[in-house]
Amino acid sequence: MNYALIGCGRVAYNHLKAAKENGLTVCAVCDIDPDHIFDLYNRVGLSPEEAGAIARYADWNRLFDHEKPELVSIALPSGLHAACAKDAIRRGINVIIEKPIALGMADADEIVRMAEEYRVKVSACHQNRFNLAVQEMRKALEQGRFGALSNAAVTVRWSRGKDYYDSADWRGTWALDGGALMNQSIHGIDLLRWMCGGELKTVYGVARRQFHPYIEAEDVGAAVLAFANGCVATLEGGVNVFGPNLEEHLTLIGSSGVMKLGGTSANTVEYRCFENEGAASENGLVEQTANVYGNGHVSLFRDVIAAIEEDRAPYVTAKDGRDALETVLAVYLSAKTGQPVMLPLKDVKTTDFEGLFD
Ligand SMILES: NC(=O)c1ccc[n+]([C@@H]2O[C@H](COP(=O)([O-])OP(=O)(O)OC[C@H]3O[C@@H](n4cnc5c(N)ncnc54)[C@H](O)[C@@H]3O)[C@@H](O)[C@H]2O)c1
Repeated sequence: MNYALIGCGRVAYNHLKAAKENGLTVCAVCDIDPDHIFDLYNRVGLSPEEAGAIARYADWNRLFDHEKPELVSIALPSGLHAACAKDAIRRGINVIIEKPIALGMADADEIVRMAEEYRVKVSACHQNRFNLAVQEMRKALEQGRFGALSNAAVTVRWSRGKDYYDSADWRGTWALDGGALMNQSIHGIDLLRWMCGGELKTVYGVARRQFHPYIEAEDVGAAVLAFANGCVATLEGGVNVFGPNLEEHLTLIGSSGVMKLGGTSANTVEYRCFENEGAASENGLVEQTANVYGNGHVSLFRDVIAAIEEDRAPYVTAKDGRDALETVLAVYLSAKTGQPVMLPLKDVKTTDFEGLFD
């Protein structure tokens, strides 16, 4: 299957590795900075022959028209995802879109609608759904082992300093990124919403910019979420930890079971206790990962390839990406207005919050 990668920066390494490990033919890559392309090839360890066989573009529409890939993945700055995804979908190309799939609800809803209209597979790159620990929690949930859900919590306590924000102009801006909730915490937020039944009713949120005066958006946020099925949840996400990344926890509490995932990105089972299972256990599962991106890109790519071949929905859909985005935008809106926010959200976008912390 012919594949192309759009955007060759930091996370592109995980995309190119995932493409190669899944046997995709990398026909082309696109980046406005050719040095980023060559640096990526070095990091992945492509031979000169392999690199020479891949066409290089600076304009994704030219790539789409000339190479006609069957699948593309988009690893551009977040504010460019929607435009690029729509250009691909309109040409009947299947797409993996890095998170967040867009920075506004109108764009996200349009992507979901266009995927149906053009009959292409669109997957949001929430690869942590494939973490072994997350899969264990999900399996127990689907088997009904938690019973009735009471409450849940996610905490993303990471660290990003000035060097990170200086590494690219778009980071921490309202037009192209958002802050710690939209960028770093959105995987945890996706997991929380997915585990709590998906249908979110009300969000009470706060956000602050505490220690990063040189970015526009928040470096920490917190919220209380009320779900349609009665489950309540809290989320806390920030990049203000002194020293290295501390943890990403996800706890789910039901009438007949409880699980707590941990590690730096919800990749260990810290605690589990279920009815009829014997003693509670700790550290049931520890998945080794090189960084907080985890191992999930390979699994997510594998699933999308199978979805195309089998003509079924991908495991992580565009609607899932839309829902994660909606949750973050609802926290922003609540933080701005000081009021609870009722979902679904329409027409809210990150640029509505320009100046919030000035
Ligand atoms: N799933 C994950 O765990 C994960 C991890 C990191 C980043 N991300 C997401 O991936 C995306 C990229 O993040 P990154 O850290 O790799 O950023 P980055 O800045 O390192 O890479 C972005 C690349 O896009 C290129 N680019 C910018 N504008 C372009 C244009 N108009 N046309 C073509 N190329 C263009 C840049 O030159 C750069 O090489 C973001 O949306 C981010 O949220 C996801």
